[in-house]
Amino acid sequence: MSKDIMLLSSVPTFMMNDLQQEYVLHDHAHILDPEAFTKVTAFVGVGSTSKVDRKLLSMFPNVKMISIFGVGYDGIDVAAAQEKGVKVTHTPDVLTDDVADLAMGLILSIGRRIPQSDKFVRNGDWVSEPYTMTHKVTGTRLGLVGFGRIGQAIAKRAAAFDMTIAYTGRRAKTNAPFRYYPTASELAANSDYLVVAVPGGNETKNMINAQVLKALGPKGIVINIARGSVIDQTALIQALKDKSIAGAGLDVFWDEPNIDPQFFKLHNVVLTPHNGSNTHETRRAMADLALANLKAFFDEQPLLTLIPECQ
Ligand code: 8YV
Repeated sequence: MSKDIMLLSSVPTFMMNDLQQEYVLHDHAHILDPEAFTKVTAFVGVGSTSKVDRKLLSMFPNVKMISIFGVGYDGIDVAAAQEKGVKVTHTPDVLTDDVADLAMGLILSIGRRIPQSDKFVRNGDWVSEPYTMTHKVTGTRLGLVGFGRIGQAIAKRAAAFDMTIAYTGRRAKTNAPFRYYPTASELAANSDYLVVAVPGGNETKNMINAQVLKALGPKGIVINIARGSVIDQTALIQALKDKSIAGAGLDVFWDEPNIDPQFFKLHNVVLTPHNGSNTHETRRAMADLALANLKAFFDEQPLLTLIPECQ
């Protein structure tokens, strides 16, 4: 089988080097050789920023597999891929711990205002006044919007902070020892920290809307390590501006990396650049798994980590 693949988005340099050694790489934006369209049998790229729709799939008659570098694959039209018999793989599990670690980091950062205090010390403001009081983390109520792999890993960490854990999701998990709320609003009304850990896509779009933020209330903090699309960002900026919530810790946004500049003026928010899985170790593990899926495909072996819809 031809070993021509198309790169859907940029990937880390070390992964790019490995891809170049093994495959003929075509670049999405600069695909000049018309024959490449028929030669390409697999796509590879990041799941959130890569857009694979029906039109793109129809341009590549021989594509049979998409290897996603990441756990989320909201950029992929899975129904269109399935109709064409295209298998999609992703990289679950290997990034769970890092994303959960960052969620805890954001809880502590915005709750205890760590970046803001750092700025206060650097600016030399400490000599003139003590720092403003912050929000307690230990013993508070954590609401998890989504109780999949990442939600459960966050719960495990939060338990060490004696947090009271509750969650919402499509349905209650029979084996979960935590309280279940059927809606995000009910969960928000009973949380100090509301952490978003659901997949992106149409099903969860704007799930955290003005009503949920209102239920969270002026002492509540929202954390998002999932996808920007899950929170109604206009409503969130308004709630942060008028202090109808206490703050937010955000790793993901609408239209990354061109985030809304209104965020820069807000002091009750901590912003990180989609860093959930961004450690040397985890990015290497994600690359290894994405490459192993590609190899399995070209060796005509079973794919290792198919997305649930393709299993
Ligand atoms: C990104 C993620 O893939 O796994 C996901 O769904 O959002 C991240 O791990 C990663 O940030 C690459 O951009």
